[in-house]
Amino acid sequence: MSEIIIAIDGYSACGKSTLAKQVAEHFGYLFIDSGAMYRAVTLFALQNGCVIDGKVNEKALVECLSDVHLEFKKEAGIPRIHLNGLDVEDEIRKGQVPNFVSQVSAIKEVREKLVNEQRAMATLGGVVMDGRDIGTVVFPNAALKIFVTASLEIRIERRFQELKAKGIVVEKSEIAKNLNERDYIDTTRIESPLRQAPDAIILDNTQLTKEEQLNWVVTHVKSLLNKNLS
Ligand code: CDP
Repeated sequence: MSEIIIAIDGYSACGKSTLAKQVAEHFGYLFIDSGAMYRAVTLFALQNGCVIDGKVNEKALVECLSDVHLEFKKEAGIPRIHLNGLDVEDEIRKGQVPNFVSQVSAIKEVREKLVNEQRAMATLGGVVMDGRDIGTVVFPNAALKIFVTASLEIRIERRFQELKAKGIVVEKSEIAKNLNERDYIDTTRIESPLRQAPDAIILDNTQLTKEEQLNWVVTHVKSLLNKNLS
């Protein structure tokens, strides 16, 4: 056992992608941000008239799903999502995308398409993927499953700082509303709701620095690899 799959799931803005990126870099693994894929489909829906009067038109979106082509391309070593050939990594974090992504993610056909693509990207192993259903649905046999949690206050603060660093200014109250709404839809939807896999280990990173959370994961990975060698 050398190149394993590491599944990282958890609520919105608790630092899953940051952690997944750190872990992937540490082990020289491929990092896949599954949330970016759902966000890119949402951007496509918004750009193609599939959101009307504040609601996602499920039928219209499903009908044109075959026109959605997603790809990660690396820039300075960091994968960036491309939608139909265009880099949309920054665009999917702002505007209306955060408000509609959980509605789009609840659609069965959208999930089927993206889960197939996620599995295809990981056939060689050596992957760190973060999202909501990675340990439960996408890779139920992943060697290591981590369920990340953090207090709501710290999640709001982290998202605020993340957006601010990108020059996007959003009120903290609006961030709180968005995180609560998405967590509600993500945990209560019928298709692959956000759940902790029974064999996942919990990482509460409320009080941890980035370095400490990386060390925590590295220790778990090493002990797992040693166990499998002995
Ligand atoms: O960065 P943040 O944690 O706020 O969200 P994200 O990981 O970019 O995911 C955005 C949205 O995509 C989530 O709120 C879910 O609705 C959806 N998603 C999902 O349903 N399944 C995944 N594997 C990943 C994201």
